[in-house]
Amino acid sequence: MTEKIEFFDFDNQYIDEVFRIENENILEAWSRKNIASLLGDSKARARVGVIGNKVVCYYSYYAVCQEGFINNLAVDKEYQHKGIGRLLMRDMIEIARADNLTGLTLEVQEDNERAIALYQKSGFEIEGRRKEFYKNKKDALIMWYRKF
Ligand SMILES: CC(C)(COP(=O)(O)OP(=O)(O)OC[C@H]1O[C@@H](n2cnc3c(N)ncnc32)[C@H](O)[C@@H]1OP(=O)(O)O)[C@@H](O)C(=O)NCCC(=O)NCCS
Repeated sequence: MTEKIEFFDFDNQYIDEVFRIENENILEAWSRKNIASLLGDSKARARVGVIGNKVVCYYSYYAVCQEGFINNLAVDKEYQHKGIGRLLMRDMIEIARADNLTGLTLEVQEDNERAIALYQKSGFEIEGRRKEFYKNKKDALIMWYRKF
């Protein structure tokens, strides 16, 4: 990555781009309405990564009882395999630490090798499995980060 990426809190101006990236990358994508609802929710923490003025990635989680439940995260297809996922995970862990969370968790489809590798390199560990969690009947792996 030669271009500089900056992370900002999610805001109205980013809804359309986050919705586009979500739809292009996530099988069970959130609706635009659900994405917009993150803005009014005091439990939600959402951030975007921006290069120049282009949104290239995003993530969100809900903080409940000092634990962060990650919703979706994705990197724009054009910008994948350039190390942005690593930077996104780093920002998320820093923000979660500042939020005083004790754990961060997510579900990932059992065959999403790229995402699983990224999470493991970022310090997440597999702690469980939800059978046939997805509409396509694939299992979800439950992963946690607890190294705050
Ligand atoms: C998963 C995703 C976020 C990774 O983002 P990315 O910017 O492409 O990832 P990076 O370039 O930072 O790569 C991070 C690590 O992922 C792994 N990785 C990246 N590309 C890979 C590939 N083609 N094959 C295997 N592992 C790969 C590597 O471990 C890599 O670490 P390294 O480059 O230091 O060795 C991105 O591919 C994405 O948005 N996918 C679609 C949406 C998705 O699956 N979201 C997760 C839902 S749970």
